[in-house]
Amino acid sequence: MESQEPTKILAPNGREMNQGKLITFEGIEGSGKTTQMDRLCGLLENQGCRIQRFREPGGTALGERIRDLLLAPDAEVERLTELLLFQAARRQLVSTRLEPALAEGCVVLLDRFYDATMAYQGYGRGIPLDLIRQMTRVACGKLVPDLTILLDVDPKQGLNRCLLREGREYAGADRIESSGLDFLERVRCGYLELAAQEPDRFVVVRVTENIEKTFLQVVHSLQVRKVLPIDIRKS
Ligand code: TMP
Repeated sequence: MESQEPTKILAPNGREMNQGKLITFEGIEGSGKTTQMDRLCGLLENQGCRIQRFREPGGTALGERIRDLLLAPDAEVERLTELLLFQAARRQLVSTRLEPALAEGCVVLLDRFYDATMAYQGYGRGIPLDLIRQMTRVACGKLVPDLTILLDVDPKQGLNRCLLREGREYAGADRIESSGLDFLERVRCGYLELAAQEPDRFVVVRVTENIEKTFLQVVHSLQVRKVLPIDIRKS
């Protein structure tokens, strides 16, 4: 008898059921993604999960170089060029890091993914959302996060947190900060709209000054959505 490939059971996003989990973190500047990801990483490692953690743009040698180009303060980057560079870095990350890690069954924690492009380049810079979606399909294929945690913070509060972290008081809105604030308002609204469009994938966690309280909400969302079995007593 001819040997047959075992039937693959596919999840709604097209991945095999027994593969890893992709959990993405999103939010505007000052939303505290890094802190929450550090905490979650620690908790999951304590529970014996195999974790891989990446950030966008970046996560690969090429992606980190693109990140430097994109984020250099003196860079002059036209908006479609910016979009292409974010997607190029993403393609490299998806094919050389994310897909292999998920195929090995790892839990992948990712600091930003394609929702950031929709929010920043789409809602923020006004590039048509459909164009971004098409390019995202090229970069990511069918890869969809199992859960996206949106850390929602008021942009003024977020910028304030950034400035305080850098050791300065929030100096009010100078020219750049005020255009920055308008931009971040649009990005934040964009994120909330994306979350409303895909309530099964997104969870919105309202950020408070209390890091521990925010973290409990993050863990709770993972438990409720049954993405991972988590025992909070092992934190
Ligand atoms: P961060 O990783 O320190 O949050 O910085 C990344 C910056 O790049 C942040 O301002 C958001 C921005 N960004 C985009 O504009 N589009 C994207 O697709 C991604 C991944 C990030």
